[in-house]
Amino acid sequence: MRKRLTITNLKKMKQDRNAISVLTAYDYPSAKLAEEAGIDVILVGDSLGNVVLGYDTTIPVTIEDIVYHTRAVARGAQQTFIVADMPFMTYGIGRESTLKNAARIMQEGGAQAVKLEGGVDIAGDVAALVKAGIPVMGHIGLTPQSVHQLGGYKVQGKLDADAQRLIEDAKAIEEAGAFSIVIELVTESLAAHISEVLSIPVIGIGAGRSCDGQVLVYHDILQYSSPYFEKKFVKTYADIGTTIRNAIQSYVDDVKSGQFPDEEHVFGATPAAIPSLYGSSNESQPDSQLGKAGQVKKGVETS
Ligand code: KIV
Repeated sequence: MRKRLTITNLKKMKQDRNAISVLTAYDYPSAKLAEEAGIDVILVGDSLGNVVLGYDTTIPVTIEDIVYHTRAVARGAQQTFIVADMPFMTYGIGRESTLKNAARIMQEGGAQAVKLEGGVDIAGDVAALVKAGIPVMGHIGLTPQSVHQLGGYKVQGKLDADAQRLIEDAKAIEEAGAFSIVIELVTESLAAHISEVLSIPVIGIGAGRSCDGQVLVYHDILQYSSPYFEKKFVKTYADIGTTIRNAIQSYVDDVKSGQFPDEEHVFGATPAAIPSLYGSSNESQPDSQLGKAGQVKKGVETS
């Protein structure tokens, strides 16, 4: 069984140019499947607001949501390094509440690290968390919790002044002690420069090919939503949405047409018990047509 990576391993992976794979997960099965597939880091992203809870933005996601989902992920991926997002307004509004909220994510959720969005403005919070022994991943560029401030989900750092600000943000987060930083939706050249000047791993999403690792959203790579919106920076590896919809349609059709349940899905009673229960004249009972009682089906014994 693979051992859980540490922040030291992740920093070494950057030095060795060993690309870091990160995927979001929000529940037990997604985490378990990601771990079985060999993912390096699982992120319990507040994107759960969009892809699991059906919100338009990540802003409504609460600390309770993150703790609840992180706990399920931690049960599913016991050998994988888990980072969980600190939701909107659970940091940056007072050092004590930042520390308390991060502690909940670690203690109640079972994450190994937290992620915060922002640069220079939140560097003080990052430093306080690190001082308290909490590993921090930064997040700059397109920061979805500030979508209204940024004026939409747009590529960041296209103008020189914006690029310069993002470089300063990245350096401030590194200096504050973060072990890694996510950079989202920026030009490839800017992400390459930031990856070059920082010594901590830079994990890109929509940030091109030169980052030290990549992160994508579980539901995006699997097309696990309806409707599914194509995104330029996402590569999809399966079309689970269509598979699930077709499977449910077949189930509905089978129920309506009487094709489910079939003989293989039903349980018989002990033949001797049937006359005493239903009376010997009752020939319409389906049980009387069946074989053994207490059938064992796929490891589940019921009777
Ligand atoms: O919430 C999230 O899923 C994220 C990733 C997109 C980096 O922050």
